Amino acid sequence: MTEMVTKPLPYEPPLDGKSRAAKPAHVLDELVRDIDMYALDGIGQGYHEAWKALQERGDMRKLVWTPLTGGHWIAMDGLMVREIYEHPELFSSHVIFLPKEAGEKYAMVPTRMDPPEHTPYRKLLDTGLNPARIRQVEKLVREAAADLIDGFVADGHCDFAAQYARIFPVRVFMAMCDLPMEDVPMLMKFADDMTRPPGKTPEEQAAALDAANQGFFRYVEPIIKQRIGGTGNDLITTFVNGTINGERLPHDKALGLISLLLLGGLDTVVNFLSFMMIYLARHPEQVREVREDELKLRRGVEELFRRFPVVSEARMVAKDQVFHGVELKQGDMVLLPTVLHGLDENENPDPFRLDWERLPKHTTFGGGPHRCAGLHLARLEATVTLQEWIKRIPEFRLAEGAAPVYQSGIVAAVQNVPIVWDKS
Ligand code: HEM
Repeated sequence: MTEMVTKPLPYEPPLDGKSRAAKPAHVLDELVRDIDMYALDGIGQGYHEAWKALQERGDMRKLVWTPLTGGHWIAMDGLMVREIYEHPELFSSHVIFLPKEAGEKYAMVPTRMDPPEHTPYRKLLDTGLNPARIRQVEKLVREAAADLIDGFVADGHCDFAAQYARIFPVRVFMAMCDLPMEDVPMLMKFADDMTRPPGKTPEEQAAALDAANQGFFRYVEPIIKQRIGGTGNDLITTFVNGTINGERLPHDKALGLISLLLLGGLDTVVNFLSFMMIYLARHPEQVREVREDELKLRRGVEELFRRFPVVSEARMVAKDQVFHGVELKQGDMVLLPTVLHGLDENENPDPFRLDWERLPKHTTFGGGPHRCAGLHLARLEATVTLQEWIKRIPEFRLAEGAAPVYQSGIVAAVQNVPIVWDKS
């Protein structure tokens, strides 16, 4: 157990009723900052803007410790975020969600495994999500995008978050898994509670995350049973009939793996697309660039992922160590805001500018052995969305007085994205 000290923190914790952990003895007073990953200061200005403003504060260090969300470190430097992802021997995936109490309840497979245990599970995931397999669903992805946009193009306006982003990737994914669309609202609620768990204390958040995780498990259990031995071409049949080290995927691991697939496929692209659209609606000149040059669009899609990272997961310190001059103890948690790498000005000059032609450097999909297994699908969905949108709605803007509502968390969210265009 880490020794706790009871002396007051060197800063005045605000009287906001939030639960704050006592500072462990090895954490230096000068490294303590009051940062709430679930309610970032300045979030009203935007999620990416809020993280960058925190980072640019004069007193910010590369590694800071916050007493909020159960008490944890935060890597406030883009290259450090990447470095931690790439060193599972120093920073374990054993717990990846904060607060740690909630992360310990999180039972998705194989995200909590370190190599070598992780490796065969990852091979299995790649059999269903590799580029060749994803190319096969391009028609389905395109039809889903076109159908949705055709549904509102004549109106001259839409709430992009509600009418497109929250439906399109989910429709694609449910089709790839051969699951009915009527199950979506329930699954979306589980996903919301896992990536932005409600509750004022770590215990309340752990209970909410656990309930959502169990909800996923209850949902997938009968589906897995039905599909074992099946011959369908859907993702679930592919995975439940796969092997791990020559043996059939064990049932408890199948529950975690299929649930993770749904979580990964449901929440991330949804929010990424809305962030992307807010920016494009404010920058018609950059839309024009790719409207006139289809190749630029396809080549530039990676830049969108650099510019709009949405994930902030954590790693658990695997052993006592001194990292960049800071003492860390085994079991400490470190939050990795991927936004700080994509928007790092040393890696990507003028980082808030979307530059279709740059060679983007980012960790939006994580890094190291757990790098996103769904990235080929995510890239296809972003490309097709832009192609089909621009074809039908070449010029568009944010509605006057638009006030998108941002939320920070394990996956950042944005709602209320009213877009308008001239009716033809
Ligand atoms: C904008 C879209 C997406 C972003 C930003 C994103 C981001 C990430 C990140 C940062 C990780 C690393 C997790 C870790 O290291 O602990 C990850 C892992 C993963 N993602 Fe994604 N993801 C996206 C889309 C998707 C989609 C569409 C799927 C579903 C097909 C998916 C499935 C997965 C899976 C299965 C893993 C776990 C890989 C492993 O543990 O080896 N992701 N994703």
